[in-house]
Amino acid sequence: MVDPKAQHCPNIAYRPITPSDLQVLEKIHADLFPIRYESEFFLNVVNGRDIVSWGAVDRSRPGSQSDELIGFVTARIIPANESEIADTLRHDPSRIDQTLVYILTLGVVEPYRNLGIATSLIREVTKYASRIPTCQAVYLHVIAYNDPAITFYKKMLFKCIRRLSNFYYIQGQHYDAYLFVYYINGRRSSCSPLELVTAMTTCMRSLFKFLAAKIWKNEDKKIPKWSKCKESSCFLSKQKKRVVTTEGAGCQCV
Ligand SMILES: CC(C)(COP(=O)(O)OP(=O)(O)OC[C@H]1O[C@@H](n2cnc3c(N)ncnc32)[C@H](O)[C@@H]1OP(=O)(O)O)[C@@H](O)C(=O)NCCC(=O)NCCS
Repeated sequence: MVDPKAQHCPNIAYRPITPSDLQVLEKIHADLFPIRYESEFFLNVVNGRDIVSWGAVDRSRPGSQSDELIGFVTARIIPANESEIADTLRHDPSRIDQTLVYILTLGVVEPYRNLGIATSLIREVTKYASRIPTCQAVYLHVIAYNDPAITFYKKMLFKCIRRLSNFYYIQGQHYDAYLFVYYINGRRSSCSPLELVTAMTTCMRSLFKFLAAKIWKNEDKKIPKWSKCKESSCFLSKQKKRVVTTEGAGCQCV
């Protein structure tokens, strides 16, 4: 595939995955993942049977390629009480209809990486999940050695809640997995003692910073205004420095 970053400015669009995507979808999965998925999985994706999905295409590619998948995400809605993250949710025993969105697969073909495509695809999933009134969270597993995906999910504010030993068994070898969760509308269970301590430490730190800033501000009032601006302007570019001196606008420009 031609490198879109070098050749042209891609025009990425997002659309539902349809039966015409079957072949390409299978090929990309085979290229990107160490696990082989059954044909039934792909048929369910393209026909929207129990699976929701979004595809990414590059409209600037020539001819029929302009509608060919270059990225995808697939997910399934599952009952919350049957899931392995049920213990982390704010559980209401009277509601058996609570659900989760489980991400099955996510991928972007190599030449289109680092363009924010996976970010947009995951945003589609979280937007979709937040529109479901019963949905508590979006979650997924990542194989422990997949550093790009781990960095990616952390950046997307997914929380790594567990390391699962020997979760995957691939070609005769066991691999650990991480469990990542994105809670919808703050639907999390109450904090663990460790989390409470962490939250309190963060709070204390913010309070300390606030007080320190206040003290600094009071000290600062004693300094003549012009000298304060002079000091801060040393962090500015030459052009901005000029603004300081010509307009005399003082601290505004910092
Ligand atoms: C993981 C993957 C989906 C990311 O797709 P992408 O479209 O390149 O991701 P984005 O451009 O939206 O990246 C967003 C952020 O993710 C992180 N990220 C993405 N690729 C990364 C890499 N190779 N190394 C480190 N961080 C990476 C970065 O923090 C990046 O933000 P930044 O560009 O501001 O630094 C893609 O690398 C892929 O398809 N990998 C193979 C399949 C796979 O592992 N799927 C996930 C299985 S759970």
